[in-house]
Amino acid sequence: MSIFDGRFSVEIATASGIESVTKRELRKLGYEPSGASLGRIRFDGDFKDVLRANIFLRTANRVRIVISQFVAQSFDELFENMLCVRWQDILPKDAKIIVDAKSQKSKLFALRSIQSVAKKAIVSSMQRAYGVSQLQESGASYNIEIAIIRDYVAVTLDASGDGLHKRGYRTYLGDAPLRETLAAAMLQLSVWNPDRPLIDPFCGSGTIPIEAALIGLNIAPGMNRSFACEGFYGAPDVRKEVQREAEELITRDRRLHVCGFDIDPDAIKLALKHAERAGVKNYIHLQTADMRGLSSARSRGIILTNPPYGERLMKGNEVEALYRDFGAVCRKLDDWCVYVITSFKGFEKHFGKKADKIRKLYNSQIECNFYQYLAPPPKREAADE
Ligand SMILES: C[S@@+](CC[C@H](N)C(=O)[O-])C[C@H]1O[C@@H](n2cnc3c(N)ncnc32)[C@H](O)[C@@H]1O
Repeated sequence: MSIFDGRFSVEIATASGIESVTKRELRKLGYEPSGASLGRIRFDGDFKDVLRANIFLRTANRVRIVISQFVAQSFDELFENMLCVRWQDILPKDAKIIVDAKSQKSKLFALRSIQSVAKKAIVSSMQRAYGVSQLQESGASYNIEIAIIRDYVAVTLDASGDGLHKRGYRTYLGDAPLRETLAAAMLQLSVWNPDRPLIDPFCGSGTIPIEAALIGLNIAPGMNRSFACEGFYGAPDVRKEVQREAEELITRDRRLHVCGFDIDPDAIKLALKHAERAGVKNYIHLQTADMRGLSSARSRGIILTNPPYGERLMKGNEVEALYRDFGAVCRKLDDWCVYVITSFKGFEKHFGKKADKIRKLYNSQIECNFYQYLAPPPKREAADE
């Protein structure tokens, strides 16, 4: 019997700082998440839930199936516990077995040795089960992670394949693009909702406006790609059912007020290509424009953006001047909320205002702050007074 016919613990890997958003997303999908340590959240589910998590979660990096958990303080203990798993119920005879290892505050910390002992145990178990002296490993890849935290080992099987930030719409990379998962998290951390105007004045390849449109139209981010778990040996075929669920949830008749601007016409060309591939080109407005000319006739909108940090795209003094001008532009939109992610330490000083809230987030490996400026509450109408 395949383990994929039963229930198991599902592990969601998410970036540090956005665990609460991913948990909220899981609850919306009908799951009860537990634990959120070191960017790992779990829930109980079956194979269909693994696919639903892959297709619907906007902020998760990866979905894994928990295969085994035990305590190991020596390589013998690691080997014996790995050997006990019925790997023949999980892996086909020709599986290409890739083992990755992580360790924190544990007796076993040499990653190469952890990988090779774990792999040796898996191979021995498979050879015994299939009655062969050698495995060909010529088939599909199976990525197994051995994560050891305080001597507690979690053995998981990657169910995503490519990272979940790869939605399938961004095939061309712009300058310093933002991860799709992080853009979706920033939107969900903000007060934006699809009825409110949204502007990204430094939109680059369009990640923030595109993710906003996907949220606004309720398009599941993983609808247009495949996942490692779909090729698992003995796994039930549930894609059609989950795909149908995702299609039925789309609301294409919604009007959005989402705009992206960038001073670089090539960036806007790229953003338009990406928007088209994501199926949202007709719902967002993308245009070449200098942030310094930004204004809006709409009220109570949201500016949410990822400006140059001064690390890859601009020199420090140019960035300072840009942030000063950006501050002046934002002050004119005085009933708008402003959200900015940057790693530039003196951002508030140059922008000209202390943020109401700051959250530490990571853009790939770069430590950033997410500065949040809330608008004053709406003025009460004369009739209310
Ligand atoms: C960090 S990148 C944005 C990346 C974007 N979030 C993405 O996912 O591709 C910053 C962008 O700001 C743009 N930029 C720089 N100065 C600008 C200005 N004065 N007005 C508008 N855009 C500007 C750059 O061309 C660049 O595309």
